[in-house]
Amino acid sequence: MRWCLIDGVGTILDEAVHALRTWQHDAAPVQLHPGDLGWFWRFGADTMAAAVRTWSRDGRIVAVGLLDEPGLLRLTVAPDLRRDDELARQLAGDLTRPERGFLPAGEVFLETPPGALVRDLLRGDGWHDGDAWTPLVRDLAEAVPDQGLRIEVTGPKGAHVRAAVQRAAFDGSTFTAEQWRDMASAPPYADARCLVGHDQDTPVGAVTVWSAGPGRPGLLEPMGVHRDHRGRGHGRAITLAAAAALRELGSSCGFVCTPSTNTAAVATYRSAGFRPLPARLDLRRAA
Ligand SMILES: CC(C)(COP(=O)(O)OP(=O)(O)OC[C@H]1O[C@@H](n2cnc3c(N)ncnc32)[C@H](O)[C@@H]1OP(=O)(O)O)[C@@H](O)C(=O)NCCC(=O)NCCS
Repeated sequence: MRWCLIDGVGTILDEAVHALRTWQHDAAPVQLHPGDLGWFWRFGADTMAAAVRTWSRDGRIVAVGLLDEPGLLRLTVAPDLRRDDELARQLAGDLTRPERGFLPAGEVFLETPPGALVRDLLRGDGWHDGDAWTPLVRDLAEAVPDQGLRIEVTGPKGAHVRAAVQRAAFDGSTFTAEQWRDMASAPPYADARCLVGHDQDTPVGAVTVWSAGPGRPGLLEPMGVHRDHRGRGHGRAITLAAAAALRELGSSCGFVCTPSTNTAAVATYRSAGFRPLPARLDLRRAA
């Protein structure tokens, strides 16, 4: 087993993105998605590299983790190795011992895919059920109905508009046009689009959609409506636009995962035809 805190930035990140693409399947859309890495890339390649952990066996990446926030590791495992004993023990050991450098000491949250053996090993070994997340999917076999907003696909000239809507939708967001350019020049964005919804000439909502290639689930990350323009159907509209864009990119379904406590988001996705899957609990290790 070879573990890695990224060193040769380009190659390993490319390999991690490739692995995440191939792990996406309709039956079980996977967190992480290449789009999760793509969205994080707004912080630049160095920060990206420092936040990604990969585990390899026999020259193949078998698990990928993204330290999405200082105390939140989002981990996924190759679908065929979810119950692999050797891998699960390696992961559990690496994640339990801060000195190995995979996780900081103190309170940490950990996302694992459903059914992963590593979760069973960690639970009871200092880790407990944490926050609930609601995954939602929307099949894209049929055409997506039209919605009311005028949609612009963001390019370099519109980056400041995309960034401004993001800041107006998410409390604490510091997204900038420069970060948009960093994100858009990174490999995952080749399969992505940013959409900004306009009510007349006013930008009111935005979403970024990430394809994992034709026939695979695509991801919405993030989606938000300007705080001054909520409650008028714009969330539903921009979400429908996202679904239509993913369909155009060849995605089999649209996928999103949001904290179950975000009732407005869950209601909005449902309103746009997304079907909630059973909630998933992350794991929490107390400080
Ligand atoms: C979630 C969000 C996009 C909703 O935007 P919006 O424009 O107000 O949503 P809409 O007006 O289109 O409403 C869509 C549906 O959600 C429901 N809804 C919206 N806000 C709600 C709330 N606070 N509580 C319960 N239901 C709510 C509406 O009633 C509507 O349901 P219906 O179509 O069945 O009648 C907006 O609140 C937001 O940007 N939040 C911050 C960012 C965020 O959390 N994004 C999602 C996670 S990535």
